[in-house]
Amino acid sequence: MFQAYEVAPGGQVSGDIRVPGDKSISHRAIMFGALAEGDTVVNGFLEGADALATAQIFRAMGVQIDGPVDGRVVVHGVGLHGLKAPAGDLDCGNSGTSMRLLCGILAGQRFGSRMVGDASLSRRPMRRVIDPLATMGARIDSHEGKPPLQVHPVAGLKAVDFTMPVASAQVKSALLLAGLYADGETRVTEPAPTRDHTERMLTAFGVQVGRDGATASVKGGQALRATQVDVPADISSAAFFLVAAAICPGSDLILRHVGMNPTRIGVLHVLRAMGADITELNPRTVGGEPVADLHVRGGHLRGIAIDPAWVPLAIDEFPALFIAAACAEGTTELRGAEELRVKESDRIQVMADGLAAIGFPVTVLPDGMRIEGRGGEATPFAGGTIQSHGDHRIAMSFTVAALRSRGAIRVEDTANVGTSFPGFVDLARQVGLGVQVLG
Ligand code: S3P
Repeated sequence: MFQAYEVAPGGQVSGDIRVPGDKSISHRAIMFGALAEGDTVVNGFLEGADALATAQIFRAMGVQIDGPVDGRVVVHGVGLHGLKAPAGDLDCGNSGTSMRLLCGILAGQRFGSRMVGDASLSRRPMRRVIDPLATMGARIDSHEGKPPLQVHPVAGLKAVDFTMPVASAQVKSALLLAGLYADGETRVTEPAPTRDHTERMLTAFGVQVGRDGATASVKGGQALRATQVDVPADISSAAFFLVAAAICPGSDLILRHVGMNPTRIGVLHVLRAMGADITELNPRTVGGEPVADLHVRGGHLRGIAIDPAWVPLAIDEFPALFIAAACAEGTTELRGAEELRVKESDRIQVMADGLAAIGFPVTVLPDGMRIEGRGGEATPFAGGTIQSHGDHRIAMSFTVAALRSRGAIRVEDTANVGTSFPGFVDLARQVGLGVQVLG
C-alpha cells in the first residue's frame, strides 16, 4: 500500500497529549501472558501492527486473546508448556522484537514452527539469536542468517552462560525466555545496559530473575503467574514530539504517562545535554515501570558529542535526534551506533540521504554521523521529498523536521508508521503540525 505525507513548513507545537502504549512492553505482555497460568489483563496496550502481529501468532498457537478494545486485552494463559503447534507460518510482519523474542520461546517447544516477515524484516540479522540458542540445543534454520526461520522441535534445552557481543535487549530476552525451558540456570551478560522490560515483567509474573552487575539470569522450569499489566506511553513515540517542541522556540507541550525506565531515557539525556527544557511531573511507578508526565518548552539547542554510554538507552530515538542536531547550533557527533544500520532500515544512511534531500548534507560515519547544526538559521531545511524506505521512525522524524523548513516536506512510504504509532497523524495535527496524508 503506497502512502505519503505532505507536511506544511513552519509552525510551533502546543497541547497536552498521550501517545500510544509502549511497543516493547506490549509485545512482552502478550508473550508472558500467554505462557502464564491464568488470565492476564493488559491496559494501555499498543494497537499497532507489530504488537498485533505478536497477538496473532499466539492465537495461532492456541491462546485465546480478547481485544484489544480501547487498549484493553485479556490473555488467557496456557502455561509454559501449553502452546500448540501452529497450522501455518507465523507472520511477524515488520517486527524484529516479535521474531527475536519468539526464537527464544519457540526454541524450547516440542513442536516445529516457521517464522516469516516482510521485506524489511527479511533483511535483518538473526544469527545473533540463533547462534547462542544453538549452544542451548535449539535447532533453528535461517536463510543465510536471515528470515524465514524454521524452528525444529527439541526434547529440551540446556542452560548456558553467554556474553553478548552486541548490546541487544532482544537477544538478552530471547536467551532468558529459552532459559525458562532449559535445565539449570541461564546467564546472559550484556556489554552495556539495555532495556530491562523482560526482567521487570517476568518478575511481575512471579519468576525469579537474578541480576548481578551486567549479568541477568533465570532458572529453568519456573511457572509464570498471570498478572495485570499497565502499559505506559511509549517514550520512543513521545520522542518525536519531544524533538518537535524542543526545536521550535515558543512551543509548549505536555506528554502524559510516559514510560521513564532508566534503560529507555537516553533521548532525555541527549536532549537535555543539548539544552532542551524538559521537566518531569508526577513521577510514579505503574506495574514495576516508572512513569511521568513530561513538559517540554521550545528553545535553542546546541550541538554535543553524544556519550557512547547513552547509545543503547536511545537506540530507537536517533532518527528524531538527528533532526534535533540539525536544528542545534554547533556540531553534534554520534559514534558507536553501528546497530542503527540493522534496524527497520539502515538508519544512518537513510537519515543522511533524507537530510541531503531537504538541503542538509551531513557526514556519514561507519558507526554514526557528524552533523554541523544550523541552529542559527530559522529554517535549516529547504524542503523536498524524502524516502522513508518503509521505516516508521524515519517517516515520523522528517514529519517533525518540517517545523523548521522553508518549503514543504513530502515523506514517501509512510504506511508503516502504523507499526508503532497508530494515530500519529491525528496527534501531530492536534499539536499544530500541518500533515496531509496522500495516497
Ligand atoms: C527492543 C530492543 C531494541 C529496539 C527495538 C525493541 C525490545 O532492539 O531497537 O525497537 O523490545 O527488546 P535490539 O535488541 O536489537 O537493540
